[in-house]
Amino acid sequence: MTKTVLLTGGAGYIGSHTFVALREAGYDAVLLDNFSNARDDVPDRLEIITEAPVTVYRGDVRDRALLARIFSENNIDAVVHFAALKAVGESVEKPLDYIDINVTGLTALLHAMREAGVFRLVFSSTATVYGTPEIWPIPEDLPRSYTNPYAFTKLTCEQILEQVAHADPNWAFATLRYFNPVGAHQSALIGEDPQDIPNNLVPYIAEVAMGKREALRVFGNDYETPDGTGLRDYIHVEDLARGHVLSLTQLLTSGESHVVNLGTGTGSSVMEMLAAYSRAVGRELPYVNVPRRAGDVPVLVADPAKAEALFGFRAEKGIDEMCASSWAFVSRRRNG
Ligand code: WQD
Repeated sequence: MTKTVLLTGGAGYIGSHTFVALREAGYDAVLLDNFSNARDDVPDRLEIITEAPVTVYRGDVRDRALLARIFSENNIDAVVHFAALKAVGESVEKPLDYIDINVTGLTALLHAMREAGVFRLVFSSTATVYGTPEIWPIPEDLPRSYTNPYAFTKLTCEQILEQVAHADPNWAFATLRYFNPVGAHQSALIGEDPQDIPNNLVPYIAEVAMGKREALRVFGNDYETPDGTGLRDYIHVEDLARGHVLSLTQLLTSGESHVVNLGTGTGSSVMEMLAAYSRAVGRELPYVNVPRRAGDVPVLVADPAKAEALFGFRAEKGIDEMCASSWAFVSRRRNG
């Protein structure tokens, strides 16, 4: 019997790639998205990639009536919850918006799931719940903290799930802590497509490569790292999507909650990513050294062992494939 999954935020960057991976794994999926950070034509592109119609509900995850309608019109077995705001810098300016959408959105979804008798949820969390880690690679049992409102909302959501599962053993949750997702689907039809000035490194480099930005601003080159620039655990979005499918399958078969990092265990510096993107484009891309960005930590690299032990997940793609797939997507997107 085909299992059906509701993807909130399913037209977004990680959501759309997870939709494709779920379909390829034999799941069916239904999308809910308010398209605040996704282009309108993403569902059409998903239909081309998966060669099947896509059921899309346009709306807000806090809309209890819409959620009730989705559960009544579809036989949902589980939910993967992506719908949230995720820009660290923006969260500092708009903490209430982040709390309202990220936290209230989760509680609205949990109420709707309980009313529909659906008790399996995969939650999109983040490595920023580790605050400013003193060690790396980072294991899941490192004490959590936050250095910005975005991370506060994600940590709060993790604790809500813990409380709900503790109170009612009917529930089982998979909490996935992403490190730095980058890259695009091999079809170059979907990828990271920020609707305003990119906060993150790779989409900004992509805009430099397209001539939309003059040069990459390297935020600090005096960190205690091999080349002085920040180290991050970049993971290809296709690997990340596959990790969601393995986690969901584990959740459905075991009925037990889990919390895992989704990363590679390898750190790459800003300059290494710029060099990899330059190789993908075929020319040296310009950069300028500027002061550190407030809130940045020097190193964020995952210990990926738990996801491998629990459900056999291991990231396969390296930074050259990540950058080449990103460049293929943005080049194609530029032409409409
Ligand atoms: C990576 C590195 C910067 C831009 C954030 C969120 C995290 C997740 C991913 C949601 C750092 C440097 C960046 C630029 C630069 N989002 N950089 N110039 O900050 O590790 O993580 O995005 O889940 O939650 O915190 O990602 O891509 O912004 O930065 O030098 O123009 O690139 O200093 O070392 P980050 P990032």
